[in-house]
Amino acid sequence: MAVTADRIDTATVLFTDLVGSTALRSRIGEEAADSLRVTHDQLVGDAIAGARGIVVKHTGDGMMATFPAAVDAVAAGIAIQQAVDGHNRRGAEERFEVRVGISVGDVTFTTDDCFGLPVIEAQRLEAAAEGGQILCAEIVRHLARGRGGYEFVSIGDLDLKGIPDPVPAVEVRWEPVVQVAMPRETPLPPVLARPPGFDLAGRQPELDVLLDAWKDSAAGRRKVVLLSGEPGIGKTRLATETALVARHHGGLVLAGRCDEELELPFQPFAEALRFQLELGDEVPSEWFGSLASELVRLVPELADRVPGLAPRLSGDPDAERMRLFEAVTSWLRTTAASVPVLLVLDDLHWADRPTLLLLRHLVHETAHDAVCIVGTYRSTARTARRLSTTKRGWHRAGFRQPSQRRSPESSRSCPNPHVSSWKEPRWQAIPSSRSSQWPPPGCPRSR
Ligand SMILES: Nc1ncnc2c1ncn2[C@@H]1O[C@H](COP(=O)(O)OP(=O)(O)OP(=O)(O)O)[C@@H](O)[C@H]1O
Ligand SMILES: [Mg+2]
Repeated sequence: MAVTADRIDTATVLFTDLVGSTALRSRIGEEAADSLRVTHDQLVGDAIAGARGIVVKHTGDGMMATFPAAVDAVAAGIAIQQAVDGHNRRGAEERFEVRVGISVGDVTFTTDDCFGLPVIEAQRLEAAAEGGQILCAEIVRHLARGRGGYEFVSIGDLDLKGIPDPVPAVEVRWEPVVQVAMPRETPLPPVLARPPGFDLAGRQPELDVLLDAWKDSAAGRRKVVLLSGEPGIGKTRLATETALVARHHGGLVLAGRCDEELELPFQPFAEALRFQLELGDEVPSEWFGSLASELVRLVPELADRVPGLAPRLSGDPDAERMRLFEAVTSWLRTTAASVPVLLVLDDLHWADRPTLLLLRHLVHETAHDAVCIVGTYRSTARTARRLSTTKRGWHRAGFRQPSQRRSPESSRSCPNPHVSSWKEPRWQAIPSSRSSQWPPPGCPRSR
């Protein structure tokens, strides 16, 4: 009879858990949840193996792994979050979040399990984390001794269930992986390209709102900013200034406008798509997303660019419209998985209803994508009322519109454009652990 003796060793222990898995399962159904579980296991398992970790066991909707070195466990935690984030940003149908806890110390290994206070501590830290967060016992940071250059932020002592003394804990900062920065000489879309005759005068508070939104969105937190005001007050100009900074940071600037006379369906989206198409080889054809065949309705030339497009499905008008909405969403999410996108939709006061419905759909479907949507509209036009229906929809979905920031020079004789950066509802908030990683290292931070 073979007898395997238990072994005591020092190890760094990492726990993961899929956030809200039970609710997710009942929402998407058993089969979809099983397939998501396979994806989750693959992503988390690969990240652990890639950092020299060993998966000890699966724990409900997570994993427990051990590592020979503290720095490896931290690297694995970051790789897990980046892999999940990449999955979410690539336009996956079902997105999910994972929390991670790490501790270290002497543990007892059996053939297929591992026990000890560090194991309990790691599990409790994981339970204390939010989705997207990595929490470590502070001792993990001390043992890593600066290796890997990781950033830790102290979050104080945590009372963890079953652990006698409070545990000093730290959060590990991580940043999404973005592969591409657009060349600085990439042209701006025609709507924004007109070189301004004068340097921008004033408008700093408004520009700050726009640039904050841009930076936040580049870290995978989609933002919506609406600029409104009288004709000629400088709405498009502010959007152009934002575009110049976004381009300088390596972002992709897309734009389109609505036209009073033309009344082309989905005109601003079609113009933005055509612009991306005209950038040629700067933009890989995969960026047009998995439903590019539907986008041909907006820009027929796309059929010549994207090889092997599936024939477009036809059906009842509602189903066709929904597929188009999904195709536009897939295009922008797929593009934003590689490069942060600034999408300017100019003159929305002339937008027709389908365009506004598409905008609303896009806003809802891109909460975790590196997309900044800037819409401009004349607040005086009767058609601004149309947009108010869209805005009411956002309100109902829990978005909040903060009060306007005003320029110091604001006065009755010199009105300012109204800049409102829409805040996410709580249920869509991304944990604060995601710090902005844009611009990429080496890129200057201002124009
Ligand atoms: N703060 C500013 N500093 C310098 N020039 C400005 C400023 N704001 C606007 N302009 C200039 O004023 C002109 C009108 O601005 P812009 O086209 O942005 O207005 P708008 O609000 O978009 O108008 P419309 O409702 O007609 O689209 C442009 O030439 C623009 O460059
Ligand atoms: Mg304008």
